Parts: sequence; C-alpha cells; structure tokens
Amino acid sequence: MAAENVLVLVVLVAAAAGAAAWRRLAPGSFWFCVGFPVRWAWVFATWPKVAAGCKLSRKRNRLRWSLEVVPLVSTSASTSYTQRRKVRTVAVDKAPRFGLPRPTSLGWRVGVRLHDGQVPADYQAAAERLAHAWGVHSVRVLPDKPGRVVLVVNRVDPLTDVTASPETGELLTVRPGMLETGMPWIMDLKVMPHWLNAGATQSGKSTLVNAIIRGLAPQPIALVGFDLKGGVELTPYAPRLSALATTRAGSVRLLDGLVSILEDRMTLCRTAGARNVWQLPEEIRPVPVVVLVDEVAELFLMADKSEKDEVAKTATGLLRVAQLGRAFAVYLIVSGQRIGSDLGPGVTALRSQLSGRVCHRVNDPETANMTLGDLDPAALDAARAIPAETPGVAIVAGQDGTWSRARTVLITEDEAEHAAKTFAHLTPAWSDLIRSLTGPRATVDDPAVHPPRAA
Ligand SMILES: Nc1ncnc2c1ncn2[C@@H]1O[C@H](COP(=O)(O)OP(=O)(O)OP(=O)(O)O)[C@@H](O)[C@H]1O
Ligand SMILES: [Mg+2]
Repeated sequence: MAAENVLVLVVLVAAAAGAAAWRRLAPGSFWFCVGFPVRWAWVFATWPKVAAGCKLSRKRNRLRWSLEVVPLVSTSASTSYTQRRKVRTVAVDKAPRFGLPRPTSLGWRVGVRLHDGQVPADYQAAAERLAHAWGVHSVRVLPDKPGRVVLVVNRVDPLTDVTASPETGELLTVRPGMLETGMPWIMDLKVMPHWLNAGATQSGKSTLVNAIIRGLAPQPIALVGFDLKGGVELTPYAPRLSALATTRAGSVRLLDGLVSILEDRMTLCRTAGARNVWQLPEEIRPVPVVVLVDEVAELFLMADKSEKDEVAKTATGLLRVAQLGRAFAVYLIVSGQRIGSDLGPGVTALRSQLSGRVCHRVNDPETANMTLGDLDPAALDAARAIPAETPGVAIVAGQDGTWSRARTVLITEDEAEHAAKTFAHLTPAWSDLIRSLTGPRATVDDPAVHPPRAA
C-alpha cells in the first residue's frame, strides 16, 4: 500500500515538473493545450456569480416545488403532521449565455448573448470589473451582430514590449506598431489617406512619425515636410524629403506648390478620362506624395495681425490638399498637441478631413475630445487613461468608427535619419514633382522650401 502511495506521489511530482518545464519552454502551446482549458473551466463555473456581481444578470421568476409541513390530525393531546408538495415562484439570477470561446495567444474571445434590454454599453461599463474578477489585464467589448457582443480578453498587456518592422513591402502602407489585440497596426494611406497624430508633449508623436518615415523611406514615393519648430524635428530627414518648409512664408509657398501639383494631376486625370491617379496607366501615373506636418498649431498661430493673410492662405492650402489629396495621391499626416477651433477658422474643417486618428496620452479631456470626440465615448475614456509611463501608447481610430489601443514601435531619430540617408537616392527632386502642364508655381530654389541636402 505504502509503495503504491509513493508511486502515485512520484507520478504527480513528475507531471507537475513536466508541466512547469513545458510552460517555461513553450508557453504558447502550454497556454492552448493546458492553460486555456483550465482557465475557461473556471471562468465558466464562476460566471453566474461574476455576472451577478457585475450586474449583468437578470432576475427571472422560476417555479419551484417545495415540501410544506401541514397538520393532519389534531387532538387535544397531540397533533400529527404530513408533508404536502407546493409550487412556489422564486426569483433567480440568470447569467447571460456564452457562445463558444476561442483561445488566442493573448487570452480568449467569446461571444455573449445580451439579455432583453441590455446594450453593449452595459458590458463596456462592466469591462473593468470583469477584468478584475477574471484576473486578466483587460476585457474589451466589441459590438457584434444585434443582441450579441464579443469579449476580447487579454491576460497580459501586449503593448509592454512592441517589436515590429514598420516596413510592409506594400506601397503606401506602413506597420508603425501593434494593436492591443496582438495584431499588427497597419496604416494604409490608400485606404485612409489623411491622419491626425495628436498627444501631449513627450507622448510619442514624433516616434510615430519616425516609424512612418522608416516604413515609407524605401518606397517609390515623395516625402514633404512642414516643421515650423525651426525645422529641428524634420531637418535630420532632409535627404529623403523632396521639400521642407521651416518658416511661415516657406509653408505658404510649399502649399502653393502642392496645390499646383494637385491641379496638374486633376488635369492629367481629366485628359486621360480617369477618376483618380490609380486609374491612370502606370507609365504616366504620378508619384505619390506624403506630407508630414509637425506641430500643426505653429502653422495657425499669429504673432500679430500682419501674419493674418499668410495664416489664412495656409489654412486654405492645407484644406485643399486634404480635400483633393485622396484622389490625386497626396496624403497628409498632421501631428500636434492640440487641433481645436481655438487655433482659428479652417482648423475644424481640416480636422474633419483627417479621418485617421491617433490619440496619444493627453493632458486635458478637450484634446481627446477634439481627436476622438466624434467616435465611441469609450475611446475617449481609453485615451484619458493612457499613463505617462507608457509613451507611444495611443488610441487608433479609423473612419468606420472602430478603435483600438495600440503602441508604436520605438524608432529613434537616429534610425529614421539612417533610413532617410540610406534611401536618399529614391527622393524625387521637388523640381520634377512641380514640373507640370500648368507650369511651376512654387519658388523651387527657395532654401526655405528646398533644404540643402545632407551629404
Ligand atoms: N513606442 C514607444 N516605446 C517606448 N518609448 C517611447 C515610444 N514612443 C516614445 N517613446 C519615448 O518617449 C519619448 C518622447 O517621445 P516623442 O519625442 O515621440 O514625443 P512627442 O509627443 O513628439 O513629444 P514633443 O511634443 O515634445 O515633441 C521618446 O524619447 C521615447 O524615449
Ligand atoms: Mg515631437
């Protein structure tokens, strides 16, 4: 008997040691084969209690049989009793029903059927409570078909350490980082042509621009910059920039040039009977232009009234580029700490054209509102909750109204500068871009527009 007990003990210890080794050496397969089934069994078993605690259950009346003790015969000396079955109505908690769970490398996804009268917002409000109850990093609620939501559960934060290459090998597409779902964050300018990149100082705006430059530099496109912070941010990338404006006057000229490029492309498309440049034959298709604007507020701020005209011209130029850019392959990536109506007329119209949104950590709720305000209120809450210790974390939203937490891969200035130098030979000359049917309009040789190339 004692020998059998020892054998059982040895087998148990060996199994535990084997499981521990498996978990350490191959955590992915361990999670799918052992971790997830065990975790799900526990989630399923405790769901009625958790759902009630998170106020997601509904009280339902149920008929229950019970035994009632009733007196049968009563004499002066004694009473005899009997039992009688009786139907009672009792209120019980009924938890919403789960669909089939699907394990993911980071956790699991599971559909839940809403009770009558429930809406996805009820689950969003309970998401944090669910995460605590299940001991996981986060629970995201995605609306599914009517009457159903999908819970995306992440055991750990996938954005703690993001490693990805911004290069995708696909034209006008970059991979600046990773989404909270563990999927790559893909920025496809052909689908979403204009982006607003907002956030407080040191929140990660320039790092995102670095990643975009790193991803786009090897592609056959032109990059153009506006940097009114004295050019300190974008000048290091000058070898890969076809033009860079660092002064207000330079910005006006550069925008004038971009508008003339757009007008030429319009004429070209009209002549060829095409609706956009992508319908043109490849041999005459003009090169795509990606315009990077650093600290957009600098373009709109006026020191005195004498600058009023230039600011108005800048606002109109940017808006025209945004409106016409999609069809004629000119794309805008606008970065700034704030982009609100307080900057002046035209800003709100420009913002509404920038349908791709990236909102890094913000200091004030208004900036989150300005960047994401026309989207789901939960996106705003998520933006306000980004801690200062995680620069590069942002809320990314597209025009279909969906949003996700994401983090850029850390591409330093040195790496972006190195990419700019490595692919400098792919930089189209501004004079080639501007050469057109309608004739050049920008002052091509103006040093404010066309920076001297770094060796
Ligand atoms: N994805 C990231 N992962 C890790 N660290 C990051 C990430 N993004 C940014 N950082 C860190 O945060 C610092 C500030 O980032 P960045 O310069 O991009 O902020 P910013 O919003 O452009 O600030 P400013 O408004 O002052 O120009 C960087 O030096 C970098 O160390
Ligand atoms: Mg910056």
